[in-house]
Amino acid sequence: MLSNKTIVLGITGSIAAYKAAEIASQLTQAGANVNVIMTKEAIQFISPITLRAITGRPLVTEMFDLASEFSIEHVSLAEAADIVVIAPATANIIAKLAAGIADDMLCCTVLATKAPVAIAPAMETNMYNNPITQDNLSKLKARNFVIIGPATGWLASGKEGLGRLADIDDIIGNIRKVLGRGGDLAGKHIVVTAGGTQEPIDPVRYISNRSSGKMGYALAEAARDRGAKVTLVTAPISLPEPVGVDVIKVGTAQEMRQAVVKVTSQADALIMAAAVADYRPIKAAKDKIKKREAGLTLELECPPDILGSVKGNFIKVGFAAESSNLVKNAKQKLQQKGLDFIVANDITASDSGFGVDTNKVTIIDQEGKIDSLPLLAKREVAERVLDRVVELLPKPKSR
Ligand code: C5P
Repeated sequence: MLSNKTIVLGITGSIAAYKAAEIASQLTQAGANVNVIMTKEAIQFISPITLRAITGRPLVTEMFDLASEFSIEHVSLAEAADIVVIAPATANIIAKLAAGIADDMLCCTVLATKAPVAIAPAMETNMYNNPITQDNLSKLKARNFVIIGPATGWLASGKEGLGRLADIDDIIGNIRKVLGRGGDLAGKHIVVTAGGTQEPIDPVRYISNRSSGKMGYALAEAARDRGAKVTLVTAPISLPEPVGVDVIKVGTAQEMRQAVVKVTSQADALIMAAAVADYRPIKAAKDKIKKREAGLTLELECPPDILGSVKGNFIKVGFAAESSNLVKNAKQKLQQKGLDFIVANDITASDSGFGVDTNKVTIIDQEGKIDSLPLLAKREVAERVLDRVVELLPKPKSR
């Protein structure tokens, strides 16, 4: 979705300016046209040659730089932009933007653009906390600027504190979210579940499964990038939280059920990519169970089926991880759980299903249509699943 988007990346005079090179690189690799504007202070921290080489595009450093193809008409960058991002943004640029000052190319571009503007502040804690900076940020927020971060951590002064440039994943995630605003899921609320639930045996041990959560996280990110409001209900897994998504962390199937029931009250679709435990100990021991030579027998029960029991007027999508009779078993689950469609995957293949980045799935719907997709990246599978969700969503009434 970043492919062929035109992004103006403004860089200002902060120690964190070197991180702008990584931002420019990731955006360029994702297919965006990145037009960099550097303030004269930024040039003290990072060379324009670096940014020019990374983006492969002309770059603007001075308002009246006649060698630049953008300088003749200083609004041309503003007009071409799908988004303007300033990272890092100093207290100085924030103050200038809040006051409407137009004394360099970056300020002029922000004033002239109709595109959304996102800024990632980076400065010393006291400068950031200063009520003047806070007032300026509030003004920009009120004018629909997207403020990313700052984060807390090591600062150039050697101290720890608030004011560090937000993580690059956070910045890129926010750019994706803003660019997705006009997508085909704009205004829709999509609930996604992910990961394998953990059912306690005692305070130390639990029963779980090998779900990595990658499919669910890919779905959440893809839905965000298509403009949806996304709630991700996730069992414990080791992936970083997706940016721009409401994350609810749960442990057990019971907790997942409670969260799903709560958040689907206003949802347009529920996509259950989670590997919910099929069995749980009837009762978890209060104390750690001692090791016994004679072994241990656990009595298990099935937790309630979330998909099959959650009620509401939303699209229901299930996943079926199967090791045999893929279509037959998936069709049965589709009917039993009353789903709009089910995404079945054969977990016996080493490049599909649990843990890996790819998946080979078959989508089966209520009309009996069976769509066997080739081996795809999980993100690509997510897009195909969401295409089907979009098809099922009520169409806006034409006047
Ligand atoms: O475990 P099973 O193969 O039945 O899972 C199929 C689908 O049902 C999955 O989408 C899973 O998330 C969902 N499920 C559920 N509640 C359970 C078990 C599974 O919603 N207790």
